[in-house]
Amino acid sequence: KKGAAVASLVAPFTNPLLKAYADAGLSCFCMEMVPRISRAQSMDVLSSQANIAGYKSVLLAMEHYQRFFPMLMTAAGTVQPAKVLIMGAGVAGLQAIATARRMGANVEVFDVRAAAKEQVESLGARFVEVASDEDAEDAGGYAKEMDDDYKQRQAELIAERAARSDIIITTALIPGRPAPVLITEEMVQTMKPGSVIIDLAVEMGGNCPLSELDQVVVKHGVTLVGVANIPALMATDASGLYARNLLNFLTPMLDKESGGLNINMEDEVIASSLICRDGEFLKPELLNKGESA
Ligand code: NAI
Repeated sequence: KKGAAVASLVAPFTNPLLKAYADAGLSCFCMEMVPRISRAQSMDVLSSQANIAGYKSVLLAMEHYQRFFPMLMTAAGTVQPAKVLIMGAGVAGLQAIATARRMGANVEVFDVRAAAKEQVESLGARFVEVASDEDAEDAGGYAKEMDDDYKQRQAELIAERAARSDIIITTALIPGRPAPVLITEEMVQTMKPGSVIIDLAVEMGGNCPLSELDQVVVKHGVTLVGVANIPALMATDASGLYARNLLNFLTPMLDKESGGLNINMEDEVIASSLICRDGEFLKPELLNKGESA
C-alpha cells in the first residue's frame, strides 16, 4: 500500500523497474547499497550470500571434476593434488579459497586490490601479483576498472596459470559495470581436457565469455558451470542468514511506540540504502542505469 516500506535485494544497477517503487508511493531500502562499514557487517546481505556462493562453487567444481582434490599416496599410486585458480579474492573468493584448501587443493589467486594479498596468503594460498603502481581499491573497498596496460599484463599471467590449472573459479565483479573478461576462449583452449570453470560472475556477463547463464556446457573439453543464484542451492542457510541481515537492519529503525519506522537520514546506513522515500526517488543516478539496462 502507499506509504509502505520495502527492504530487499533490488539489483540496483540492472533493475528497469526501480521507478515503479517511487511511483507506487513506497519507501524502498536497497540492501545491496548498505555501506561496507564495521557497524553494518551484520546487515550485509552481499557478504552473507557471497560467502555461500564461494563455498558452494567449490562443491560444484568437485562434482564436475572427475579427479581427487587432495594429494593421495596409495598402494595403487600417487594422486597429485588439484590445482585451483581463483579470480577475485572478495567475500566469495576468500571462502572458495578456504574451502578448496580444506579439500587439499593447491590454490593460486588473482585480485586487483593489493589488500587482498595478505588475506589470500593467510588462507594458505598463493597470490599472483600483477606489477602495478596503482591500487585498484576505491574508497568503498570495491575494485575499480583497470587500464588497458594492466589488463594486458594481467592477461599474460592468467594465460600462463590457466594452462596448468585443473579448476578455475571466477568471482571478479565491479559494481555497476559488466564483469571483466578474465578467461578468454584462447585460454580455455589451452586448458587440460576435463578441467572445470565455475563462473560466479555469470549474471553480470561472466568472467569467461564461453560460460552460459544457468547452463553447464562443455567447450574445448572444459566444463563451464554458469549456474545463476548459487546461494539458492543452499536455500536454508541462504534464507536464514538473509533474514538475520534484514532483522539487524530493521530493528534499530523500529519505533516501539508507533510500530512504524523511524527513518533517520543522518544515519549513513539509511542514507546510503534508501533509494526512494514516500514516492520521492532519492538516487537519480540509478534511474539512468536501470532504464538503459
Ligand atoms: P565483489 O563481489 O565486488 O568482487 C569480487 C572480487 O573481485 C573483489 O575482491 C575485486 O577486487 C575482484 N576483482 C574485480 N575486478 C578484478 C579483476 N579484473 N581481476 C581480478 N580480481 C578482480 O567484492 P566483494 O566480495 O563484495 O568485496 C568487496 C570489498 O568489500 C572487499 O575489499 C571486501 O573485503 C570488502 N568487504 C568489507 C566488509 C565490511 O563490512 N567492512 C564486508 C564485506 C566485504
